Amino acid sequence: MLSKVAENLKTSPTLFLVARAKELQAQGHPVISLTVGEPDWPTFSIPAQAGIEAIQKNITKYTAANGTVELRKAIAEKYKRDLGITYTANEVTVGSGAKFIIFAALAMILDPGDEVILHSPYWVSYPTMVELAGGIPKIVFCDEKENFKMTADQLEKAITPNTKGFLFCSPSNPTGLMYTKEELKAFAEVLRKYPRIVILSDDIYNSLVLDDSGIAPNLLHVAPDLKDRLVAINGGSKAYSMTGWRIGWAAGPQRLIKAMGDYQSQTTGAASSIAQHAVLAALNSCEPDIKNVLKILNKRKVAAMEEFKKIPQLKISNPDGAFYLWINIKSFLGKTYKSQKIETDKDFAEILLTQFYVATVPGLECGNNGYLRISFATNEENIVAAVARMKEFVSQLT
Ligand SMILES: Cc1ncc(COP(=O)(O)O)c(C=O)c1O
Repeated sequence: MLSKVAENLKTSPTLFLVARAKELQAQGHPVISLTVGEPDWPTFSIPAQAGIEAIQKNITKYTAANGTVELRKAIAEKYKRDLGITYTANEVTVGSGAKFIIFAALAMILDPGDEVILHSPYWVSYPTMVELAGGIPKIVFCDEKENFKMTADQLEKAITPNTKGFLFCSPSNPTGLMYTKEELKAFAEVLRKYPRIVILSDDIYNSLVLDDSGIAPNLLHVAPDLKDRLVAINGGSKAYSMTGWRIGWAAGPQRLIKAMGDYQSQTTGAASSIAQHAVLAALNSCEPDIKNVLKILNKRKVAAMEEFKKIPQLKISNPDGAFYLWINIKSFLGKTYKSQKIETDKDFAEILLTQFYVATVPGLECGNNGYLRISFATNEENIVAAVARMKEFVSQLT
C-alpha cells in the first residue's frame, strides 16, 4: 500500500519521544520529560483573548492561502524592527507553523539531486525535510572545539556544483548557541561567491536571547545585500508560547514567497484564521511578556546548569538562547548498566527513560553521538528530580 517514501519515513524523534514519555506516564510511571521543545507557560493573555474574540466575531473563515494582508503587513513591520529590512506584504507568507514554512521553502527551491548544507548538530527534522522535498542533505559535522558551530571554511568546503540551499538555525536547536556577527559576516563572504545558493535562516528562537540583549545576530544584520536570496523564517510558537496555534511565516524574495504561497494553496490551504488573528495581536503587544519570560528562562538556565554540574563527568555548554542544554555524556559511553552495554547516547537515553523515567533527546537524533539535549522550559523541581535520578543511574554504571 505504501510508497517508497512512506516506507522509509520515520516519526519526528522528538515527537516520538514525547509520545513515549506520555505512554509510560499513562502506565503510572513518574516520568519527568525534558524533551519538550516548547515553553511550559501559557500563551500570553493578549493573543489568547484575541483568539477568543476571533471566534466570537466569526473570524472563522478561509483567509488568503498566504495569510491575511493585515498579518503579513504586521510581520513585515516586525522584520523592519528586528532585522532592519523593508519587506512588502507580498514578500511575506504565513503558513501552518514554521515547520511547514521551512518545508514549503525547500519544496519550492529543490530539484532532484540538489543539495542543502546543514550543520550538525541539527534540528531533528531538517535532514528528513530536505529528503522529502527531493533534495540531499549535506551535513557538516561541527565539533565541540568550534562550539558546535559551522565555520565559514567548512561552509565553503561543503559547497559543490549541486548545492542549492544552506539551512541553518541561530540560536540553535539543539545547542542554544548562536552565531556572532563576525561569524555571520564570514558566512556572507563565502555566500556572495555563490549566487545560486538560497539561504534559509531559521530564526524561530531569535527573540529568546537569554541575556536580554535583543534579537539574535542575523545574516541580514551584517549582509543586507543577501536579501534577494535569503528566506527569513520565524513564527509564533516559541516567542509567544503558541506552539499549538500553528502559525509560522517567512519573508524573502517575492518569486519564491509567491511560489510558497501557491504551494500552501494546493496543500494545507490557509493557516487557521483564528490563530492568525491571535498572532496579529501578539506581534503588536507581547514585547513586555517576552522580557518577563527571558528573566525566568535565564534563571532556569543558571539553575539547570548548576544542577547538572552535580554530576562531574558531564560537560555542559552554556546556551546563548532558546531553552536547551546540550550535555556531553561521552564519559559514560562504553560503560555497562546491569549487563547492558552503553554504546551510544541513544542507549543511555533509553535506559534513563525506561528505568529512571527521565525523558531526554539523544544527540544522535541531532547528528552528534555522545550528547543529550534537555529542555529547561520546565520548572526547577523537575530539573532537580531529574538530575537526582540521573545521578543514581550513572552511579550504577560499571
Ligand atoms: C529549530 C526549529 N525550527 C522550526 C521549528 C518549528 O516551529 P513551529 O512549526 O511550531 O512553528 C522548531 C520547533 O520545534 C524548531 O525547533
